[in-house]
Amino acid sequence: MLRGKHILLGVTGSIAAYKAAVLIRLLVKEGAEVRVVMTPLAKEFITPLTLATLSRHPILVDFFDPEDGRWNSHISLGEWADAYLIAPATANTLAKMAGGVADNLLLTTYLSARCPVFVSPAMDLDMYAHVATQENLGKLRRRNVSIIEPEEGELASGLVGKGRMAEPEKIVEALQRWFSGQKKRGLSGKRLMVTAGPTREAIDPVRYISNHSSGKMGYALAEELAARGAEVFLVTGPTQLSVKDGIHRIDVVSAQEMYERACEIFPETDGAIMCAAVADYTPAEVSDRKIKKDDGSWALELRPTHDIAAELGKNKGSRLLVGFALETDHEHSHAHAKLERKRFDFIVLNSLRDAGAGFGVDTNKITILERNGSETAYPLKSKRETAVDIVDKIENYLLSPDSRPSE
Ligand code: CTP
Repeated sequence: MLRGKHILLGVTGSIAAYKAAVLIRLLVKEGAEVRVVMTPLAKEFITPLTLATLSRHPILVDFFDPEDGRWNSHISLGEWADAYLIAPATANTLAKMAGGVADNLLLTTYLSARCPVFVSPAMDLDMYAHVATQENLGKLRRRNVSIIEPEEGELASGLVGKGRMAEPEKIVEALQRWFSGQKKRGLSGKRLMVTAGPTREAIDPVRYISNHSSGKMGYALAEELAARGAEVFLVTGPTQLSVKDGIHRIDVVSAQEMYERACEIFPETDGAIMCAAVADYTPAEVSDRKIKKDDGSWALELRPTHDIAAELGKNKGSRLLVGFALETDHEHSHAHAKLERKRFDFIVLNSLRDAGAGFGVDTNKITILERNGSETAYPLKSKRETAVDIVDKIENYLLSPDSRPSE
């Protein structure tokens, strides 16, 4: 996630400045390019030589080089950086940042930086808890500065409490999380429907016909789409799963209900992912009383349900339609036939013959078949990781329509 990223590290005058050395080493190990700007006082806590050696760049402290008068441009530093991380950030620097003071290179760079800014406070517990510091942090937070919370523990003063700078590993994780979130906002503004889970077809008030679908794959897809900024409508049959806030969950029971709700929602979306295991047949008649057994055999008459995907495919227009095929034999030919018949843009095939794929399990092994004949097989992965692969493909189709093979 940090490979090739330009991280500008600001180091201020705190006893925690020694951790900047570990931080630089970790960032470089992750593939980031690191440049360091220090406040004059920070040099008293850790030598610029150490940080220059680790970051493989000269350290910047002054507005200009006292030897040859070369100007250290805070503007070009801010432009170079993909993220500006101030760690450790003292109470003094946080206060100056909040107040717009510009009396050193680290601060002028903050004022001109256009990239996201992160601060990792480090100070004594009383300084951290002081209302002035908390107000300054509040101000910075409102300006979208990300605060990497300090940890509780033993402080340089010998006291124990909150104020110790977060461990370098935690700081690196915070940056990674931010960059991975950024990568994933590609679907904001898109509305997508996902059908998931099984349906239940009532026979009488106590019995029904259903299947083994757990809904896990559909829910993982809904969450991945939402994580990338899409507005998600999850039309789900009965499952044991809960869904994260922000996803519109529409609970249904029967194939008929799923059909009705899906038909209502689909025209308002940019596309649908048909992940539900919909019953193909439903009892021709539902008894309103419990059916009593007798000695003979019993035949239940079934009638076909609507094929939801095929119905949506008829009027899909430019909307994206993604299907699933779970097969036990002749997998590829069955999946191709469904791709054509239901007018899917692509179909995700899983075979029950693959160990680790199918109902109930947390893993899946898929092949994506597209209309231009291309087939991509993916290795066995968790359903969450499989959702990432499928949503990568969806994002490609939605964001670069040229990559979408025509029918
Ligand atoms: N599907 C649907 N409505 C149905 C049946 C299936 O929307 N009544 C969708 C599924 O969600 C899946 C795709 O169609 O995306 C293929 O489902 P599948 O059950 O494999 O296909 P069927 O057409 O039912 O064919 P068969 O059961 O004969 O394999």
